[in-house]
Amino acid sequence: MAIVIKSPEDIERMRVAGRLAAEVLDFITPHVKPGVSTAEIDRLCHDYMVTVQGTTPAPLNYAPPGYRPYPKSICTSVNHQVCHGIPGDKVLKNGDVVNIDVTVIKDGYHGDTSRMFYVGEPSIAARRLCDVTHECMWLGIAEVRPGAFLGNIGAAIQAHAEKHGFSVVREFCGHGIGRKFHEEPQVLHYGRAGTLDQLVAGMTFTVEPMINAGRREIKELSDGWTIVTKDHSLSAQWEHTVLVTADGYEILTTSPGMPEPPAIASGARSGAFLAPA
Ligand code: MF3
Ligand code: CO
Ligand code: CO
Repeated sequence: MAIVIKSPEDIERMRVAGRLAAEVLDFITPHVKPGVSTAEIDRLCHDYMVTVQGTTPAPLNYAPPGYRPYPKSICTSVNHQVCHGIPGDKVLKNGDVVNIDVTVIKDGYHGDTSRMFYVGEPSIAARRLCDVTHECMWLGIAEVRPGAFLGNIGAAIQAHAEKHGFSVVREFCGHGIGRKFHEEPQVLHYGRAGTLDQLVAGMTFTVEPMINAGRREIKELSDGWTIVTKDHSLSAQWEHTVLVTADGYEILTTSPGMPEPPAIASGARSGAFLAPA
């Protein structure tokens, strides 16, 4: 299957889905504090999506080939969990860091975004990992423009992570998104500039680097979904859904509570804008 180029009508509906996904993260932010369980966070998000937004949580019962159906409506990945953490009895405690990953379906289109949250006061090491991973995502996004190579995104992310002594998870990547949750292309978070496919206006995909404080190796837990670092080091992830525009990119998963792009991605702006040439 080839990469789907979105029409102006598709793009308008992707903007709606993206904004709604980001607004779920805004909604849940005040609830992420010591003493709350990840199942409670899932329940609150599920009810907000279904009852307030009229969206469908894409993860619920999602079953790609080789996977059992995902049992919850969001992913909550705590500390050394890399991604796809299943909400459950785990109670968040002061100093934890948690990635909350939300994907909604609205009017047949998907919006996919995640952020890191501090539970109480993070350690200096945890704050640094989360900040550098946020910078990695934005430095990758800042490469997006028509004619740029997919490999430019991964190269920018990998260089920044490794400069800080961190490692890039290779088994999972960003992805095309639209009427399907995961479609072409794969968006690797490592690699070489000038390699892989060239970007074309109308493509929509996610950039969602997973960065480990220690070694890059991972393993899957027996629940069939949760991915953790093999060395139990901390892991962080941020995710936006982006559109390739005629001149650069547009972030589709924007909301009032979305953290600003970091200073290091100086050309980057949230919302619709032109990327620096
Ligand atoms: N939201 C994840 C991503 O960014 C995918 C989660 S699949 C699930 O691609 F089934 F675990 F929800
Ligand atoms: Co994604
Ligand atoms: Co996601």
